Amino acid sequence: MDSPPYAEAYHRSIAEPRTFWREAAEGIDWFEFPTSILDKDDNGADRWFRGGRLNTAWLALDRHVAAGRGDDVALIYDSPVTGRIEKFTFRELTSRVAHIAGGLRDLGVAKGDRVIIYMPMVPETVIAMLACARIGAVHSVVFGGFAAPELAVRIDDATPKVVLSASCGIEFQTVIPYKPLLDEALEIAEAKPKHAVILQRPQCEASLVPGRDLDWAVWEAASTPCDVVPVDSWDPLYILYTSGTTGKPKGVVRDNGGHAVALHYSMGAIYGCDAGDVYWAASDVGWVVGHSYIVYAPLIKGCTTVLYEGKPVRTPDAGAIWRVIAEHRVKTFFVAPTAFRAVKKEDPDAALKADYDISCLEYLFVAGERLDPPTYEWLKQTVHTPVIDHWWQTETGWSICAKMVGVADAADIETRPGSPSLPVPGYDLRILDDDGRELGVGEEGNVVVKAPLPPGALPTVWGDHDRYLEAYWSQYPGYYLTGDGGYRDADGFVYIMGRIDDVMNVAGHRLSTGELEEVVAGHPAVAECAVVGIADEDRGQVPLGLVLLKDGVNVEAAALEAELIQLMRSQVGAFANFKRALIVPRLPKTRSGKILRQVIGKIADGVAYDVPSTIDDPAILEEIAAALGKSN
Ligand code: COA
Ligand code: AMP
Repeated sequence: MDSPPYAEAYHRSIAEPRTFWREAAEGIDWFEFPTSILDKDDNGADRWFRGGRLNTAWLALDRHVAAGRGDDVALIYDSPVTGRIEKFTFRELTSRVAHIAGGLRDLGVAKGDRVIIYMPMVPETVIAMLACARIGAVHSVVFGGFAAPELAVRIDDATPKVVLSASCGIEFQTVIPYKPLLDEALEIAEAKPKHAVILQRPQCEASLVPGRDLDWAVWEAASTPCDVVPVDSWDPLYILYTSGTTGKPKGVVRDNGGHAVALHYSMGAIYGCDAGDVYWAASDVGWVVGHSYIVYAPLIKGCTTVLYEGKPVRTPDAGAIWRVIAEHRVKTFFVAPTAFRAVKKEDPDAALKADYDISCLEYLFVAGERLDPPTYEWLKQTVHTPVIDHWWQTETGWSICAKMVGVADAADIETRPGSPSLPVPGYDLRILDDDGRELGVGEEGNVVVKAPLPPGALPTVWGDHDRYLEAYWSQYPGYYLTGDGGYRDADGFVYIMGRIDDVMNVAGHRLSTGELEEVVAGHPAVAECAVVGIADEDRGQVPLGLVLLKDGVNVEAAALEAELIQLMRSQVGAFANFKRALIVPRLPKTRSGKILRQVIGKIADGVAYDVPSTIDDPAILEEIAAALGKSN
């Protein structure tokens, strides 16, 4: 395949990054090749491919049509919730994208303007993203499961000219109207966009606000195709908000040049895919996996991508994954472990797999959360392919550690349970203790990446470069803080043990404790609270709220819990899976007032914990353990 042996590629990428990434950059088509490979921008941040001119949508679509692949299938929309399967060729997708780009231009959207996309897993969502890219507009996709206030926060931060949305999403058999959520968000938001374009779905017709809202079908039919607008390598392609440690999400910025080069490289070197192969990432376009591996990477590489509007179970059954793989001849499949935990629960022996021929599947990749040993063992027994755990984050946009199946010696790199394997070229990974000392074999610490981050990784936080520096670069100057803890074994295999900041991972969805605590604290009976992630068999982690009542307040615990659950669903979204809140007499804190969330989480999980030397009053831990029905 396209890569030399792993060690050679990796060491070259660290020792000679400019040469390594210049060669990778030659793999994509530029309108103008970059004048320099690695440089600094005005913020002082490392940036790749200065002076390069390109267009990401053109790379993903038009280029393949020009190369004679116009009739090949680019996108397969498989939607068990609506009973539809549709295929779009590169030519058809290019034409739809050009029209929507024209429609956006007609609404005054130009290069650099932002467009919010709040949509379910339908082809129009992919088309909308690529249409923005075609004209150099910056899209920000907001996951459809977010409630109105979360959407409003993102609207205010991105200040979009236009919002693109749909009348509804469909979760299992339930139709979820999106338009009332959008209307509420636009009511709350201060940065009100001029227009909202609504895709009316037959399952639910939304009412439109005259003068502001447009019907997607009418708008698309009236538009004329818009030409590709060349952009600079450093121009932003999209903003994707992710949970930080505070309540306010961070707008991760992705630029055009580095992103295209990194994703193109990853498709061959990490996922073993070439033009014409079928690639399926079973995520949601609202998350980074959806951005990178449902939309951009497979299409840039010229693969067929699968857009699946369904669940691993109950749409209609736990055989759904096997059906999609068999029916569309998927070569590489990428999913979060939580999806297979759901399958395993409903079909423990994978009996439904027998109905399908999945011999086409060559690689099964998992990421998004830790691959727990029972799920790994089950997968190993159930599928004939290697089960490849790989580790990455919204910030990097592609994987930091992975067993790379496209390198020449891939077969010699063993899979070690519990490890997402070795660092990918470009990531100079280190494990540091709290004082910045590098740790040795088996010693657990902060996982960091020495600058420069490779192409594709975030160069800034939208509108707040200080936050970028503070969140990622201040703890260890010159090293990017991943927020994950972990260690390496004697052969350099990396083990990721979970977040060491106040971020939790619920069914592959990243949530910040600060964000959830703001909601709980908003209840009139609550004086103070802590929300911590606790272990959950199905979803990896779920949030648990600990609540201190205001003096004199007298509420029934069950009633308060029910109100808090409802509040969380309406303020953040049902996907947060907030289902438990306990009233406690006090919260454990350090002497400087920081809530000891990690310790609370350990108590709740029933695992051993050390009493921190900085704790204000150790006796509180016993009270919390008693409230949770646990003891040290
Ligand atoms: N729009 C609206 N509501 C949504 C939603 C969406 N896009 N996604 C989830 N929800 C709702 C669900 O309907 C459910 O609501 P309910 O409490 O009223 O029943 C609630 O949020 C809980 O959702 P979730 O925890 O996701 O459970 P689920 O049963 O809907 O699905 C999985 C379980 C495993 C299929 C799902 O969590 C999943 O696919 N996770 C993988 C995530 C992922 O790919 N992450 C990317 C990293 S690789
Ligand atoms: P997100 O930015 O939403 O993709 O979440 C990124 C976080 O998910 C990481 O910082 C990790 O905590 C976790 N994560 C992702 N992939 C893995 C993996 N393979 N193993 C362990 N944790 C993972």
